[in-house]
This record gives sequence, C-alpha cells and structure tokens, in this order.
Amino acid sequence: MEFHELYSEVILEHNQNKENKRPLAQATHQEHGHNPSCGDDLTVSARVVDGRIEDLAYEGVGCAISQASASMMADLLRGKSVEEALALTERFLGMIRREEIPEQKLEELGDAYLLKNIQNIPARVKCAVLAWHALHEILEKEAARPYPRAIEKPFPDG
Ligand code: FES
Repeated sequence: MEFHELYSEVILEHNQNKENKRPLAQATHQEHGHNPSCGDDLTVSARVVDGRIEDLAYEGVGCAISQASASMMADLLRGKSVEEALALTERFLGMIRREEIPEQKLEELGDAYLLKNIQNIPARVKCAVLAWHALHEILEKEAARPYPRAIEKPFPDG
C-alpha cells in the first residue's frame, strides 16, 4: 500500500472511532483547544489517577485532520504515566515544528507519526496540534503537582 493510501485510510478510521470521541466519565481534567483560523473547538478530557492517565477522550467539532489527530493521541496516551505522556506529547509537537528527532523516536508515536508531513501544509498545522496543545496544558499542570498527588475531584458526569 502506498503511503498516501495508508494515510487516508488511517485518517478515515480515526474519524469514525467513537471509542475516543465521547464524554468521559469521572474526568479529573478538561481543557479546550480553539483554532482561531477556523473557529473550531475541541475539548480534551482526562481521568488521571495516581500519576497515570486511566482514560482519555475528546469531544467537539473540527475538520478530519483535527479529529483524527485527537483520536490518535487518545489511543497513544491512554494508560501512560503523566511523565511518559508529557514526553510523547512534546515529541509530537516537536515533530510538527520540524525539530530534529530520530526517526526511531518518531515511530514510537504510533499512528500520529503519519501526520509528520502535515508540516508541509501550513494551513493544516493548527488542526493537527489542536488536541495535543490542550492535553499538553493538562499534563504540564499535573506534572507540576508534588507527590503524593491527591486525586483531583472528578467533574460531574453528563
Ligand atoms: Fe478547523 Fe481544521 S479546519 S480544526
């Protein structure tokens, strides 16, 4: 399969993935991502317990790239520790900023690695990073909290 075919197929699959686009029960953290270029808006919700992301999901509206990227992010980071997730989030954002990162490290980004070439389409860069910037805010705040970390009071469901 050619790269562009694989790319389109994976983007489509993630767009249809309802496992990652849903309200999150007992979320401890929520952050909005807003793309001022188009007005689209995503909300990233995480449930962090004992320094680990127990669950991660997103909701909101946006183009196919923004939704697929958010879904790739949720698949990659669910179950990771806050520190691991922060490192991977910064690696993804660094890749999009064209930082020099070894290929092997980029491959650890899973499906999100397929978005590498989005850096060549400036109008789409903000779409690709929308959810990741929102999660980055959550993770930075969480990582800055001293151990032992008390569990944040969950947001009311619904
Ligand atoms: Fe709005 Fe991509 S066009 S997020």
